[in-house]
Amino acid sequence: MKHNFNNQNSLIQSGINLFYTNDGSVGLYNPEIDDIFHSVYGAREEAETKFIRPLNFSKNFSSKDKIRVLDICYGIGYNTKALLKRLIQANYKGKISIDILEYNKELVLLSPFINDTYFNKYPEISYILLYNLCTCLNDENFELNDYINNRSLRKFISPFYRSFNKKYKQVTYTRKPKIKQKAFLHNIYYHCISQRHKIPVKHFKFNKIKIKPYFDDARITVKALKVQYDIIFLDAFTPTKLPTLWSLQFFKELYRLINDDGMLVTYSNSAAVRHAMIDAGFCVGKVLDNTGRNSGTVAAKRIELIENKLSDYDIGLLETSAGIYYLDENLEKPAKKILDEHLNRKKHLNLKSSTQYKKDYLQIMEKNNNG
Ligand SMILES: C[S@@+](CC[C@H](N)C(=O)[O-])C[C@H]1O[C@@H](n2cnc3c(N)ncnc32)[C@H](O)[C@@H]1O
Repeated sequence: MKHNFNNQNSLIQSGINLFYTNDGSVGLYNPEIDDIFHSVYGAREEAETKFIRPLNFSKNFSSKDKIRVLDICYGIGYNTKALLKRLIQANYKGKISIDILEYNKELVLLSPFINDTYFNKYPEISYILLYNLCTCLNDENFELNDYINNRSLRKFISPFYRSFNKKYKQVTYTRKPKIKQKAFLHNIYYHCISQRHKIPVKHFKFNKIKIKPYFDDARITVKALKVQYDIIFLDAFTPTKLPTLWSLQFFKELYRLINDDGMLVTYSNSAAVRHAMIDAGFCVGKVLDNTGRNSGTVAAKRIELIENKLSDYDIGLLETSAGIYYLDENLEKPAKKILDEHLNRKKHLNLKSSTQYKKDYLQIMEKNNNG
């Protein structure tokens, strides 16, 4: 599908387009790979229904003293933000650490400022991000201030921050130009918590939340990680467009990194993805939306964590050509090579197509029903 987004609304460095989704939150579109980052129906809504609801937080996580999260493909952070909202709502008292994997630094730095519609009710979410980002940044090579005050981008910034240029000038921090971005975030953070939003911030213990960004190819970061996670979000681009984070080998790494009672959640319900997860060792189930339709996949080491098991139909689909997964032996192949090799394997294996499988399956069902 071709999208007709306005080029003027592009991010300065990466050329990614911004637009408003139907729930009033900002979404992104990558013209280079012709893929949207967020559903046009609602970026915020999508994170809450596809990534947070399947966790069943009150049952599976609320009693833990500490929750470790791996947010793969953070983008502008909707999944992390939606989780923070859930933690605030649940009045969660334990510690949280969130490792965010995203190779586009521009997006991560902009994430506290983007109009995600959380700010009015949950300003803490933005402050938590600011607080954590300003403690881990060094010498960034772009001016955040330019984005917030850029004419075509301003409309995508939270209304509260749009007026911040003037306020920022009043609190200008002039020590070392090298640490300007850090100082900028720092200033905003302290300005915010010391002025308008004292009350909500007081109720939430910031020092219990640690967010650490890794600005690299997630495959490189994942290989180097040693800790185990309770929650893993996987929000990579569509597998058929960018298969790098959907290979069997990548899921094997995630299996190594997940706790025995941890959960991995993704929006994808591709048979190739589910098959790779299963062969990597995971128990796999589906996420159903309000209308009972497939809207993603959950994977865990323990079957008890899987609420909606795969049906016989879903399991059969894994053995068709649609269930042939991507291979990336050393986790370093270019996307094109992974796709080409995948196509060759498909041709070579010559399995039943998913369309034929569906037809045959319906026929068998009909026969069984009739007799
Ligand atoms: C579909 S978007 C995710 C949207 C995101 N969760 C959000 O809330 O904005 C995919 C993101 O993954 C990032 N990405 C894609 N491949 C990556 C890789 N190999 N390593 C790290 N980040 C990657 C892209 O820059 C993009 O921000």
